[in-house]
Amino acid sequence: MAHNTTTVPVAPGDGIGPEITEATVRILKAADPSLEFTYTTVGMKAYENGIAAGVGEDTWQAIRDHGVLLKGPITTPQGGGYKSVNVTLRKTLGLYANMRPCISYHPYVKSVHPGMDVVIIRENEEDTYAGIEHRQSDEVYQCLKLITRPGCERIIRYAFEYARSHNRKKITCMTKDNIMKITDGLFHDVFDEISQQYPDIESDHMIIDIGAARIASRPHDFDVVVTTNLYGDIISDIAAEVSGSIGLAGSLNLGAGAAMFEAVHGSAPDIAGRNVANPSGLLMSAIMMMVYMGKAGIANTIHNAWLRTVEDGYHTRDMFSSELSKDLLGTRAFADHVIERLGRVPLNLQHADYQNNELSTLPDYVPSKEKRPSKHCVGVDLFLNWDDHDRDPESLAGMLREAANDTSFELKMITNRGVKVYPDGNPETLKTDHWRCRFPSRVDEDITREIPGLMTRVNEQGLDIVKTENLYSFDGEPGYSKAQGEG
Ligand code: NAI
Repeated sequence: MAHNTTTVPVAPGDGIGPEITEATVRILKAADPSLEFTYTTVGMKAYENGIAAGVGEDTWQAIRDHGVLLKGPITTPQGGGYKSVNVTLRKTLGLYANMRPCISYHPYVKSVHPGMDVVIIRENEEDTYAGIEHRQSDEVYQCLKLITRPGCERIIRYAFEYARSHNRKKITCMTKDNIMKITDGLFHDVFDEISQQYPDIESDHMIIDIGAARIASRPHDFDVVVTTNLYGDIISDIAAEVSGSIGLAGSLNLGAGAAMFEAVHGSAPDIAGRNVANPSGLLMSAIMMMVYMGKAGIANTIHNAWLRTVEDGYHTRDMFSSELSKDLLGTRAFADHVIERLGRVPLNLQHADYQNNELSTLPDYVPSKEKRPSKHCVGVDLFLNWDDHDRDPESLAGMLREAANDTSFELKMITNRGVKVYPDGNPETLKTDHWRCRFPSRVDEDITREIPGLMTRVNEQGLDIVKTENLYSFDGEPGYSKAQGEG
């Protein structure tokens, strides 16, 4: 919930950020002269000032003081150790729920899908966006995909509560659990568990690849979609684009103590500084911010004026079509037209009707599991960087068997990029310089303490261990995946 404030911290960001922010702030000020704005530093300006995280202290302070941030898009410099500002802000502030409505404005804005109205709810903190990446050998780089039970429970419950409070009828969960059975499988399982508690809402699941295709081709099949971070990022761009333009969609990033409002699109460097960008995505986000701040009346006034502008045919370049549009406007002129229409309502499109605080509610997180499972270490995967003997798995297996001799471990298999190459590998399998060697325990008791001894013996064979991954069973169920090709 926003602190009781009329001051809005604004971080204009990069690329088209300053232009669309100027337009949005002007509309907000015209609608509610009591609003005040404080400008803070994020993105390139912060990087240039030596702040590698890209978020100035003034921004953190403003969010602490006011509980909200209206943020323009940020350019994330490639490489160089820069972290994404968006990810830093979302994770530091615990803004785990990302809600992105994608709506078409037919017949006023050309859309492949008239009548489209889909809300994408994206988990905002976990998955590959944890940003834990390593280079482990000359050839192999990895990114960890982290999915947690609390993370799944929170976002899925949020999605059901959102659906219920916004009179939405159906939630579709999207994952790739046919491949990632443990991580995406958890998200799907938690979805199935929680959906039982909401019998009034229809629920189904789709594999993300067909789900993304169907969002593009048949968005009417969807109402609310809940998914993990990366898939949510991708499908919300698809949904926004097919609704009419990526420039139209806004988003809410919600946490227990703060909320951040930003457009779905990025900093669009290709059109920056040319007064052609559509400010609507950021304006839609600002409207959600007004609702969050308890100013639903202002939100309705602005949204209705915006709808009327769109109906009247005044469009930015991305929305423009010679059949449907009356005039092609730049960013500033578009904002002027919205301001002119404050107090007016759309003639045909559905009026905005926000209620105070309807977007502020995060369900309490109550862990569903009271009892922790019994966890038991049953072996270890050793990851090696190995580039000798023409990368012959049999030679590597010989050394590893020697290392495991007289220990509590046995070499069960070796994989390369997840594909089994020993025993009974396939000569066609591409072999990189990175090998995962699985050593289940031969004994019944927990084997954790014996792993360092095995590692020493493997090192003594002249082998380079770049990572270990303990193999656990939970209540007797394996907590690790089989290799591709493993029986
Ligand atoms: P982008 O969303 O900035 O642009 C994609 C395409 O959509 C471009 O052709 C652009 O001109 C157009 N477009 C985007 N917003 C528009 C608007 N408001 N009006 C009219 N046309 C618009 O994606 P791109 O080019 O992949 O990323 C550029 C930069 O933005 C990158 O540095 C990326 O990291 C960053 N980015 C930042 C985000 C954020 O701050 N939340 C989100 C996504 C990307």
